[in-house]
Order: sequence, then C-alpha cells, then structure tokens
Amino acid sequence: MNRDQAARRPTTLTNTPAWNALQQHYKSIAQQHMRQLFNADPQRFDRMHLICNDILFDYSKNIVDETTLPLLFNLARQADVSGWINRLFSGDKINHTEQRSVLHTALRNLNDSTLMVDAENLLAKVQHELARMETISDAIRSRRWLGCNQQPITDIVNIGIGGSDLGPKMVTEALRPYAAHDLRNHFVSNLDENHILDTLEYLKPETTLFIISSKSFSTIETLMNGQTARRWFQTTVKDPTQLRHHFLAVTTNQQAAVEFGIPAENILQIWDWVGGRYSLWSAIGLPIAIAIGMDNFRELLRGGFEADMHFCTTALEKNIPVIMALLGIWYNNFFGAKNYAILPYDEHMKSFSAYLQQADMESNGKSVDREGNPVGYSTGPVIFGEIGIKGQHAFYQLLHQGTQLIPADFLAPITDHKPIAEHHRALMANVFAQTEALMKGRTADEVMYEMKQQGLSKEQIDRLLPYRVFDGNRPSNTFLFQTLAPRTLGSLIAFYEHKIFVQGIIWNLNSFDQWGVELGKKLSKEIIDELHHDAPSTHHDASTNGLINYYKRKRPG
Ligand code: F6P
Repeated sequence: MNRDQAARRPTTLTNTPAWNALQQHYKSIAQQHMRQLFNADPQRFDRMHLICNDILFDYSKNIVDETTLPLLFNLARQADVSGWINRLFSGDKINHTEQRSVLHTALRNLNDSTLMVDAENLLAKVQHELARMETISDAIRSRRWLGCNQQPITDIVNIGIGGSDLGPKMVTEALRPYAAHDLRNHFVSNLDENHILDTLEYLKPETTLFIISSKSFSTIETLMNGQTARRWFQTTVKDPTQLRHHFLAVTTNQQAAVEFGIPAENILQIWDWVGGRYSLWSAIGLPIAIAIGMDNFRELLRGGFEADMHFCTTALEKNIPVIMALLGIWYNNFFGAKNYAILPYDEHMKSFSAYLQQADMESNGKSVDREGNPVGYSTGPVIFGEIGIKGQHAFYQLLHQGTQLIPADFLAPITDHKPIAEHHRALMANVFAQTEALMKGRTADEVMYEMKQQGLSKEQIDRLLPYRVFDGNRPSNTFLFQTLAPRTLGSLIAFYEHKIFVQGIIWNLNSFDQWGVELGKKLSKEIIDELHHDAPSTHHDASTNGLINYYKRKRPG
C-alpha cells in the first residue's frame, strides 16, 4: 500500500448496519451444526433449492438458518445490487478505471435489436460478427474452406492465453459430444516451446488452420506462438499468399493483426467493452463454433441469455447468482474461508475450474475499492478445483478433516450423452455421498458403533476413534442438470459470471480491470532484453540478479 492510499479514508463496508447485523448473527450460528438445522426442518431442501430451466440449484447444505439469508439479502440491498444490475446491462461505464462499459451480456442478448452506447448500436455489431463466425465455421465444417493443395482443414489450432484460451478451451471440451468428428481442436497458450512443438508434431501445414486470438494483439505469449506457427507453416508452404487459407485472427487491434500478416477479411472483431475473461461469447468463441457448429453456439448464447433474464428479473430471494454470491461472502468474510472449491462430476468439464479461476480471481482479486481506498476486509477467495471424482482421491481429505473451512460447489449431469448405467449411477452416488459426508461428518458415537460392529477391541476403538471422527458442518452447493447441453452450459457459466459481479459490487470493487497482471508483464519484457546478452545483471534485487546471472552462466552457449 502506498502513502497516498494509506492516507485515504478506509472503506466503510464493515461499519454498515447490514454488515454489523451479520457479524452479530455469526456469533450465534457459528455454534450450530447443519445436522441440527436439517433435523429441525424436514422441509429444508424444499425451501432451499431453486430450478431454472433444467438446472437445479440446491443450497440447503449451508450453515444458514432462517435469519441468515434475510440478513444477507439486506447486505445485497444495501449495496444496491439491483441498481448495479441495471447499470451493467445498460452499458454504463462501470469499469471506471478504464472508462469502459462491461457488456458481455450484449453478446448473448436475444431480446433486443438495439443497445446504444456512445451513439453506436452495439447489437448490430454483435450480429454482424456472429454472421461472419457462421460463414467461417460453416465453410470449415462443410469442407468448403480448403487449405493450400485444395485439401479440407482437419486441425484447428487456437493460439491465445487467459480469456483468449480458457473459455474457448473449456467450452470446446465440455461440449465434445456435439463436436464434428472429422475436426480436431488444439489450444496452445504456453510460452514454453514444448506446448506448440508438441501440438504441431503430428499436424500437416496443408490441413491446419490457426486462429490467433488476442483481444490486444500485444500479448507476448500469443505473438511468439503465432510467429512460431507461421514459421512452421512457411517452412513447408513457401507462397505467402497461402497464409490466408490457414491463419485467422480475433482481436480489437486490426492493425497489429494485419501487420502480423493476416488479411483483413480473416480478422474477426471484438470490442473493448468485452472483458477478456468474459469473451467466450464473442468471436473469441470461434473455435467453439467450428467444433460444435453455429446452431449449437447459438444455444450456448441462449443459455447465457436465459441466465441473464433470471438474474435481471428474479427477486433477490430466488436469484441463483445472488444467492451463490451471498453465501460465498458469508463464508469468506464471516467464517474466514479463504478458498473455494469447484467440483464438477463430468469428465468433459475438466477445465471448468481453471476457467472460473481466471473469471473469479482476475475479477475480484483486488485490495483497493472503487474509490481507490484500501479495503478493510477480505475479497476474492482462491478458486481451485478438479473433476470431483479425481479430487476425492487427491485433496478431499483436507476438505473433510483439514483445519480450513472450504466451501464447495458440486456440479453433475443427471444423465450422460452415452450413458453406461452402472458408471453413471456410481458417479452420482459419489456426488450425493460427498456432500452428505461434508455436511454430516461422523460423530464419535457413530464411529464407535461401526467399529464395534466390525469386531474391533476396546483398545483398538480407543486408539482409532479420534482419527475416524469427522466434524462435518462443511458447506456445499449442488447443481444438478439434465445433461451437459450447450444451453445448460451457457446458463451455468453466466450464473458464475453474475455471482462474481454481485460479490464485486458488495465488496465495492471494480471487477473488470486487472492492473495486477500488468507489472509482471512489464518486468518480463524488460528482462527479456537483458537475457539477450551475457553481461551480468546488477540493477535488480540480489535474488533476481542472482537467478538471472546463474541462468546466464548455465544456459547452453
Ligand atoms: O492475464 C491478463 C490478460 O490481460 C487477461 O485479462 C487476458 O484474458 C489475457 O491477458 C490475454 O489477453 P489478450 O487477449 O489481449 O491476448
């Protein structure tokens, strides 16, 4: 924190009536166990689940009683969440540090034909780019888009990072059952040359199409991978005019893409009012459209739009993203939970938690409020996760018996696209078992009874008892949905986007900038120049100088 910041008045969220009431209430509920809450109210599930289209959201396994939620809704009202929702959707420049609207919702607006911002109709632009995506993806999928040598494209390589990688990658994987079988999708993001080299190893330039995806077209990882891809291509295909059959770009920075060598007609546009981590709905989603076809891509948009409608028009008390956000704040700010687990039980959702990590942590990993004051409370948690069934055999031990409280979201499809009944039944049994075990735990009496049944001696029981008791009272939400269809996935993603938004509003953050990422980017650019020569570096701190100079001495000549 610098001196100017320190001199500014501290933010007042923690002195507000709604906050104080929650703090008071926490003292009493912290003594309660969810077992008691369930025992006292057999209707708890009925009262504490919501259904939106084919998605069921169960939030009954949370440490909340009939007083808690109204107090949390008061917190949302106090922050004027409803007013901020209007500001978000109408295009107010709520990303105030960059003077930008935040309009990823416009990309999936199926209701209107006009949304005027700065005297421009943004929805006309959106429709125009969607039409271009459709033309391109149709041509590739129907094998009308031919590479040099007149061969159809078989491999699509998306080169991008952050929002220009995670969203398209996550959705393409998640919707694999909808994908064309004669097209393979690859995603290259890492600056480590192994990523692009491993990807290109089995590809043929004549049948490969690259999408250079970068909102800014200045991200070093993407540009370097793009250049390596172009060199690889041109080693085989010497005629530079053939690039137009094999390279596309998606960016706000048309000029830089043209300078890279991509013809203007191959450049799809996005806009500064689409945040990178919210951009999969835009032309950044082109790899998705190519994989699953534009009709399915529009279904994804529809799902997002339906979640938007739910978010905008539903009372706070029945509003899924609002409840997700408030429960997150409840644990983060009152129980001191610093981590949050995302646990999908669907193999195709393997990148879902990585995607949400960027969406959430880049949005709400902030320590200065909208007025530039240091916040006096904790903000975005560490988001982590894994396919649940794999996590069970890796890190769930800590969720069950560790010293930290880690709330978790479980997500599972009721049926799979190609179900094998016994697999899916067993998978679902694990979802239910884990959330039940986290909630109930296992008391000493239960453990003793079980060990007696197993015929253990008194001495063995006394020795093992403390290790086998689970406190339980570990909160979770569960999303059950019919199948992981494009529309369902669209809604789930949008629910999380809006959850992040509501938390940012309550914490009084600008969730849409990311200045913290800039410092590392700037320093790495400077250090790259230093690594071009062998002279020892002297102007960093001793550790950084030491590491750089060790590297310089040891690197092969
Ligand atoms: O990590 C910082 C960031 O700016 C992200 O917000 C963004 O998604 C990523 O870099 C990639 O940026 P670009 O799409 O401009 O290459």
